Amino acid sequence: MRGEYCVGGASFLSFVALLLLIFVHVGQINTSLVPHGIAMAKVDTSGFGQALHKVITDPVQGLYTTNYTSPLGQQNGLRQIYEFGLYSYCAYVNSSAGTCTNHTIADKFEPFIAITSDMLYNYTQYCDTMFVNTTFINSSYLAYNSRVAYYFILIGTIFATIALFTGVARRALLFFISTASSIIAALFILIGAAIWTSIVKKCEGINTVEISPLNGGVLSGFIMSYGNGIYITWAAFACLAAATVPYMVSCCTFRG
Ligand SMILES: *[C@@H]1O[C@H](CO)[C@@H](O)[C@H](O)[C@H]1NC(C)=O
Ligand SMILES: *[C@@H]1O[C@H](CO)[C@@H](O)[C@H](O)[C@H]1NC(C)=O
Ligand SMILES: *[C@@H]1O[C@H](CO)[C@@H](O)[C@H](O)[C@H]1NC(C)=O
Repeated sequence: MRGEYCVGGASFLSFVALLLLIFVHVGQINTSLVPHGIAMAKVDTSGFGQALHKVITDPVQGLYTTNYTSPLGQQNGLRQIYEFGLYSYCAYVNSSAGTCTNHTIADKFEPFIAITSDMLYNYTQYCDTMFVNTTFINSSYLAYNSRVAYYFILIGTIFATIALFTGVARRALLFFISTASSIIAALFILIGAAIWTSIVKKCEGINTVEISPLNGGVLSGFIMSYGNGIYITWAAFACLAAATVPYMVSCCTFRG
């Protein structure tokens, strides 16, 4: 195969990977169309009100808010859907209207804190006992792992960029750099995607946890699920891994 075709293929795959990674980074930075559509994890809280009522039997009042602009984390009321990105999370009162937190580098994935900090204090107290022994409540574990995963994804993104820009020049040394960068990028994105997959998988335990074993097995009403950001990260890994082959071939055979 001629070197030019190899370089073209590798550049195309690197370009697609970088594009996908940019989508992952913009997830949930605000509520406009594209960022709104991309998240690493989602929690649907809409069933929790009924579940809580079954457990405490008293009427549950003021648990949710319909004011989509009220700030998050200040006991202003639970939103129906929480979506977590790499830099912030957003919460929505319906499929379109919501608000986001401020942006933080390596934002911590702490869904339990995000959700309970929107509730009135007396409801938060119930949550502390209901979710004891779940990974969902283990905010320090989730925060640590999500931050580690963030840095793997960030460094992977930087190396994917280097691979793309060094791959277009006709120099043997630069081909070597783009090959190496592509391999490093693939490895880092793989680890980042695997960590995110693992922590969300563990949090999915809340979907089946019985919050009141004595009262005939009431489910929490919280539904945690993978966001499409995780799948997009895996797709970026696949592109980067596929790009290493043509980069390597051009590195070893192209004599331009
Ligand atoms: C919604 O929340 C915002 C911000 O706290 C506040 O300014 C506004 O008055 C609230 N709207 C209603 C209808 O309560
Ligand atoms: C979502 O809520 C906002 C604010 O209450 C409202 O303006 C909008 O029409 C709602 N959208 C849907 C799809 O229900
Ligand atoms: C978010 O940013 C705004 C504006 O910079 C600031 O006033 C506010 O205190 C910040 N909120 C939090 C929770 O850090």
